[in-house]
Amino acid sequence: MAFKSMIKKMSPEAGSSSVLKLGVLLSGRGSNFLAIAESIRAGRLKGVEIAVVIGNVAEAGGLKAARELGLPHSVLVSKGRKRAEHDADVIACLKAHNVDLVCLAGYMRLLSPEFIAAFPNRILNIHPSLLPAFPGLEAQEQAFAYGVKTAGCTVHFVDEDLDHGVIVVQRAIPVLESDDAHSLAERILAEEHVAYSEAIGMVASGEYEIRGRRFVKRAR
Ligand code: GRF
Repeated sequence: MAFKSMIKKMSPEAGSSSVLKLGVLLSGRGSNFLAIAESIRAGRLKGVEIAVVIGNVAEAGGLKAARELGLPHSVLVSKGRKRAEHDADVIACLKAHNVDLVCLAGYMRLLSPEFIAAFPNRILNIHPSLLPAFPGLEAQEQAFAYGVKTAGCTVHFVDEDLDHGVIVVQRAIPVLESDDAHSLAERILAEEHVAYSEAIGMVASGEYEIRGRRFVKRAR
């Protein structure tokens, strides 16, 4: 299945009307969001802009950072709300900002089937392990405790199963003898900051196909 038609194709001559608009969802410190924002600022992610940052936790550091950067942002607190109702508000906010691609960046909340259906193959997530190993919470600690020799991170499309959708980018690092779970998580995070922009750039190019579970780059 080709997604060129679903995602606006980026090209240097395309002009601002064909900018790919990102909606970033986060719950915490937002270092992945900031890495994406920096890639855009530095010109490494051309034809892409952050249309809105949405946080489901009022105190999220990522929201404060969005405010300081002057980016559109919204607090939609999820605590105590039914998933479908909260998701409906998030979807409405994303649509109001004409978001093309949703980027989950430490968004600690499962998405409802309605949310996933509203952005088919247009939601990315980043996970701090080499999926399918160590899905779920504290993936870095899981990997360290298991004794793997290679760890890393995965950027994947979101489907209805946890940490499961089609893989766009993976980056691997060796686990060092000197590592503890904390140092390993820090080194994985540094790879995440590269991987997310790489994945967004690949999706933004529109030059790919999804064949079964495989994300395949197409020659220009
Ligand atoms: C990252 O480790 C990411 O892989 C996971 O949540 C963490 C978010 O970190 N999904 P940050 O808020 O982007 O700094």
